[in-house]
Amino acid sequence: MFAYLDHQASTPCDPAVLAAMAPWWSTHPANASSRGHRPGLEAAAAVERARDRVAAALGATPDWVVFTSGATEANNLALKGLAEAALSGSSPRRRLVSLVSEHRAVLDPLRYLERHGFPLTLLTVQGDGRLDPADLARALNDDVLLVSVMAANNEIGVVQPLEAVADLCRTHGALLHVDAAQAAGHIPLAMDALGIDLLSLSGHKCGGPKGVGALLVRPGVPLAAQLHGGGQEGGRRAGSVAVPLVVGLGEALALAGADQAERAQRLAALRDQLWGGLQALGNIALNGPPPGPTRLAHNLNITVHGVDGAALHRRLRRQLAVSSGSACSEGSPSHVLAALGRSRAEAAASIRFGLGRASTAAEIELALAAVSAAMRELRG
Ligand SMILES: Cc1ncc(COP(=O)(O)O)c(C=O)c1O
Repeated sequence: MFAYLDHQASTPCDPAVLAAMAPWWSTHPANASSRGHRPGLEAAAAVERARDRVAAALGATPDWVVFTSGATEANNLALKGLAEAALSGSSPRRRLVSLVSEHRAVLDPLRYLERHGFPLTLLTVQGDGRLDPADLARALNDDVLLVSVMAANNEIGVVQPLEAVADLCRTHGALLHVDAAQAAGHIPLAMDALGIDLLSLSGHKCGGPKGVGALLVRPGVPLAAQLHGGGQEGGRRAGSVAVPLVVGLGEALALAGADQAERAQRLAALRDQLWGGLQALGNIALNGPPPGPTRLAHNLNITVHGVDGAALHRRLRRQLAVSSGSACSEGSPSHVLAALGRSRAEAAASIRFGLGRASTAAEIELALAAVSAAMRELRG
């Protein structure tokens, strides 16, 4: 038996998502920009229905939605698009503020902007990975253009205090971007009500296809396009819209919304079973907050003390698909675990378990048996 427990790297497409996409790959081939014939108009209508569904899932309206190729592109568009727009605007604000524990798809564009004249402040996080809003309050002043804080961390599942962050941003006149790649479809996120100005999401983290995502932008937020061409997506992102993929994204978010509360409860119970079993093995530490409201229900991240990380993962991969850090930055030690104070060796001997809709108690038992066997073998 083999268990796939790496759903924070990527989720399978639900059969309903595959079914929704199917005609748009084959029998319905038209370009959604081809408004001169019926198939083109039908494709455009399918895109607009997907836009409605994405907006509804995030507590926004359809005009906020810009379809992209994924969360990486959405983050780049948000951060670079806003910075470029600021250069031609009247506001003197230039400083960018974010967290040391953000995904590289946020950190790298921010560092790029820093090299191009936008001062960058990266806030540290507390021992459990959460931002202390008081630290953000201290960093905010009249020079801050944008604050970027992820909704939930991809490695340690910590949910950030977005309400407090949004309140502070509003008070200080800074715009707020949220990378919600790991949160959309998994926890409630009402963008408008919360006061979020820009939000990035990814299809393949919530039961949708790979290669699609969206940036949601509050109307009136200045954003310079980063892809130029045919003027699609209201001139905000040129290129033919990937009709099957956006249809799949809309379907996935609708499905995720429908079973969100039930799924979170079920996966939290499985995750707690896993954590309870691991604690009984001894010498295992939790990374991130304890199971509860500040942690994604489907995430567990642990460090196994006293074993070599590479050997541990070599042993585990016979039976399990898990992650030793972020799947998006293979090879380099996890900057998120480093931010929590873990050493290089401890980070290497860490395991991220990402549960998904189809995860079962039998898979949790398999994971426990695999970790237990690896620890016995490696500790001699
Ligand atoms: C928090 C976060 N942001 C962004 C991304 C990048 O998403 P995509 O694969 O859609 O580009 C990931 C992927 O792991 C992620 O976890």
